[in-house]
Amino acid sequence: MAQLWGGRFTKETDQLVYNFNASISFDKKLYRQDINGSMAHVKMLAKQGILTEGERDGILEGLEGILRDVESGLLPITSQYEDIHSFVEANLIDRIGDVGKKLHTGRSRNDQVALDMKLYTREEIQETDGLLKALLKTLYAIMREHTETYMPGFTHLQKAQPVTLAHHIGAYFEMFCRDRGRLSDISRRMNTCPLGSGALAGTTYPLDREYTARLLAFDGPALNSMDAVSDRDYLIELLAALATIMMHLSRFSEELIIWNSNEYRFVEMDDAYSTGSSIMPQKKNPDIAELVRGKTGRVYGALMSLLTTMKGIPLAYDKDMQEDKELTFDAIDTAKGCLALFEGMLSTLTFRTDVMENSAKKGFTNATDAADYLVNHGVPFRDAHGIVGRLVLYCVERDMALEDMSLSELKSISPVFEEDIYQAVSLKTCVDKRLTIGAPGKAAMEKVLEIYEAYLQR
Ligand code: ARG
Repeated sequence: MAQLWGGRFTKETDQLVYNFNASISFDKKLYRQDINGSMAHVKMLAKQGILTEGERDGILEGLEGILRDVESGLLPITSQYEDIHSFVEANLIDRIGDVGKKLHTGRSRNDQVALDMKLYTREEIQETDGLLKALLKTLYAIMREHTETYMPGFTHLQKAQPVTLAHHIGAYFEMFCRDRGRLSDISRRMNTCPLGSGALAGTTYPLDREYTARLLAFDGPALNSMDAVSDRDYLIELLAALATIMMHLSRFSEELIIWNSNEYRFVEMDDAYSTGSSIMPQKKNPDIAELVRGKTGRVYGALMSLLTTMKGIPLAYDKDMQEDKELTFDAIDTAKGCLALFEGMLSTLTFRTDVMENSAKKGFTNATDAADYLVNHGVPFRDAHGIVGRLVLYCVERDMALEDMSLSELKSISPVFEEDIYQAVSLKTCVDKRLTIGAPGKAAMEKVLEIYEAYLQR
């Protein structure tokens, strides 16, 4: 296959070398961005008098035809081309003849591919953000419904203090909000246009880079052509943001797997989001959550891979950078797929609120509140801690909860206890007394939910 750059060469590329070098098998994903970028470039060339209006119109029509035919399936993108840029240019020349050869005036594949990747990334960030927002809406709906669903809050995976399901889910709401914030920071920072940087040193043509930047909805042209063709920071930032999203999904998955276990039974996963075993008829496995947890490794890998690829590259463009694509595409597709599945899994999940509440009762999650009760009756906290410790031991030996003890049993350990202790250690009281903003108390939670509602309406 003759190449764009064949002129200087006297031999054909070795087939193995050709295959090793080619990127069409994966950069064909960029056909739309490549064509749109070329259209903007051609419009600018004509505006600057570098092409005639007739030439511009011919090229634009040819590019539109290619886009249409690729999209309809009429024009397959095959491996006979080295990369997507060669594919588009060769097809343009086939269609409209020699005028097509003027498309690449004042441009290099280095600024072209930098542009294509930015256009692609920008769109994918929008889509990922949409999926995060959909997930947040589902979390919000669960929170609204469960401000009085009591459950144990854990530290060290040991029951600690009572919270509500709304409060627990709210922690993930915060995480995914921050994820959206990271994506929007990246969009803002990356939004400069590399087009017109040429191979590395700009061009000698009187290009209007502000104009192409505007046509392609960038804030302006990138201000250093050497950086513009070799900057992959925005991809590294995106991979870090995706890795963080996956880390959040993975923690959530881990919790759902635990909650769905035979021992916990806090939730039941919908049949549509579970799978069976080929040998054990009783099994209903949380495979989707496990796969999300597992795929997190792939996205972390992509981040480490690109960081490592970039670390030794001298300015400006080097072919190493072609390695950015497969792993970025894979990481984006993986994260988007996981976000979409997760939303479905959550919205079909059944919460066993009775089991959760019972578990909070059985786990002495109100022990701190029992100690606080004593403190409020004049007992120093350290003594109160010891007294409640003895209560807990008493209950553990008899497999009972604090609130199951009779007043005389309580008094035998500390005479300070009175009838109102039962009220003080009820789950409702324990939760509702936690009223500072960010705490699970219903009044505090309602305030936060209002803020979340306003956020989701933006
Ligand atoms: N396939 C290349 C990439 O993905 C396009 C840029 C090629 N530039 C070059 N000088 N060979 O990075």
